[in-house]
Amino acid sequence: MTTDAPALPPCWQDLDDVLRAGIDRVLLYGPPGTGKTYAGLTLGEVGAGAFRLVCTQDMTTADVTGCWMPAADGRWKWLDGQALKAWRGDGAAGGRLVIDEIDRASGDVFALLLAMTDSPESAAWEHPETGRIERPLAGFSVVMTTNVETVRELPEALLDRFPVRVRINEPHPQALSRLASDLRDYAARSADLGERRISLRAFFAFDQLRSRVGDQAKAARIVFGDRAEGILDAIRVDGVGR
Ligand SMILES: Nc1ncnc2c1ncn2[C@@H]1O[C@H](COP(=O)(O)OP(=O)(O)O)[C@@H](O)[C@H]1O
Ligand SMILES: [Mg+2]
Repeated sequence: MTTDAPALPPCWQDLDDVLRAGIDRVLLYGPPGTGKTYAGLTLGEVGAGAFRLVCTQDMTTADVTGCWMPAADGRWKWLDGQALKAWRGDGAAGGRLVIDEIDRASGDVFALLLAMTDSPESAAWEHPETGRIERPLAGFSVVMTTNVETVRELPEALLDRFPVRVRINEPHPQALSRLASDLRDYAARSADLGERRISLRAFFAFDQLRSRVGDQAKAARIVFGDRAEGILDAIRVDGVGR
């Protein structure tokens, strides 16, 4: 296939291929700060809305399917959770559900998330207020993200439901393009260095601070701490090579 767009890094090309093929359950994993969440919210068919859940230990099923809440008139109303909203999308088509940090979900929430992301034939949920059996509308899709480094760290039940997993090991080119050009190559190389990785967010902060404060060394010290000198050297070397 020919296209005018510049080539994507392999991991992002894989995700593009997966979404274009109509795969609607995808797990993105790998180092933080590469654009996994952003991709979940924006890539592929998201016209019917994107709904995000960030898993924490404190999250409850209320966040997923909803909970009863007292309304102004004193009656109790059901407040829909994000998964239910994503099932309904814009009313005509199902939306995108983005479930961040899935590895942090606790037992009952995790089980509910698996049920709500099950295949459309199996997923059904009785609405406590209306008694209606809800099902995901056609077009409903799920992107789960996690910062674990290998899929082996994830529960078997999750891997079974999400057979398509893409390890994102490079920042998305669009995200890199928001950085000053002298930082891009180094930021791309630094995303997947294990303990020594530097997240895109740190580069964004450095870039902003450097241009506002006008003192590169100071900005580096504030953002990168005792790694500042090494990082500045690397950025300079990149600059010489360009
Ligand atoms: N394609 C993109 N275009 C512009 N900005 C992006 C893009 N992808 C990510 N970003 C920005 O980069 C940062 C990290 O992205 P995020 O999706 O939160 O990463 P992750 O989920 O992998 O930790 C965020 O500030 C986000 O807004
Ligand atoms: Mg994220």
